[in-house]
Amino acid sequence: MIQETASFILNHLGNYRPQTLIILGSGLGSLGEKIQNPIYIDYKDIPSWPRSTVSGHKGCLIAGLLEGKEVLCMQGRFHLYEGHSAESIKMVMSVFKILGIKNLIVTNAAGSLKKEMAPGSIMLINDHINFSGRNPLVGANDDNFGPRFPVMSDAYTQEYQDKMSQIAAEEKINLHKGTYLMVLGPNFETAAEIKAFQILGADAVGMSTVPEVLAAVWCGMKILGLSVITNYGSGMVKEFHGHTETLQQADKAAQNLTTLIRRFVREI
Ligand code: HPA
Repeated sequence: MIQETASFILNHLGNYRPQTLIILGSGLGSLGEKIQNPIYIDYKDIPSWPRSTVSGHKGCLIAGLLEGKEVLCMQGRFHLYEGHSAESIKMVMSVFKILGIKNLIVTNAAGSLKKEMAPGSIMLINDHINFSGRNPLVGANDDNFGPRFPVMSDAYTQEYQDKMSQIAAEEKINLHKGTYLMVLGPNFETAAEIKAFQILGADAVGMSTVPEVLAAVWCGMKILGLSVITNYGSGMVKEFHGHTETLQQADKAAQNLTTLIRRFVREI
């Protein structure tokens, strides 16, 4: 099944053989429009591909050039809160592995757990806490892809963190660094949960990314993770706006994010 799905995508990639996959988070889709000579592959046409359930969410793969480098972009991701199984995320990442993807650039929208990291900021993810209660690697293990017990001590590749820190300094973009905690969602957290997550050592909270990263580490990809901070965690400020604020703030930070990712893609 994985092989068939990979073959379908390969047949639609033309001459492109991208080694870098970019996953675009909520409200961050505009980077997809910067890709030159694009080829679009609709999720709904890809055999055995998970179906996007959120109405109005575009779902497609975009292959093309960014800064002259071949990239593959997921516009629209699969959230567990939509009802997607963690296993389907492992399947998707396995397909990308077969296609030759070696680097994963993963982005998301997240809530801040730190007063000094305001909405509109960007956070380089240096580690994560899997608080979702799910794991895409549960089940039979195919040793051809990765080990039964993968090691997560360098999940967010140090070399790529260093590279991104250097780029942000040169571009004079303030880049926070911290730990991303994943909740299953779909509800935003209670104030008590936010307090608990701060005590646990998390810096940002969101509803994605961890499953993709677990599967990507498992099958040997190098990873760069970036969060766009769209709001303070519930209880940290008087008014909590939820999803509307998320999309507005994502828009504001998207320009900086685009600058960072373009340069990163050019230099790796
Ligand atoms: N909590 C969880 N997920 C999120 C948040 C949040 O505050 N903001 C954006 N995604």
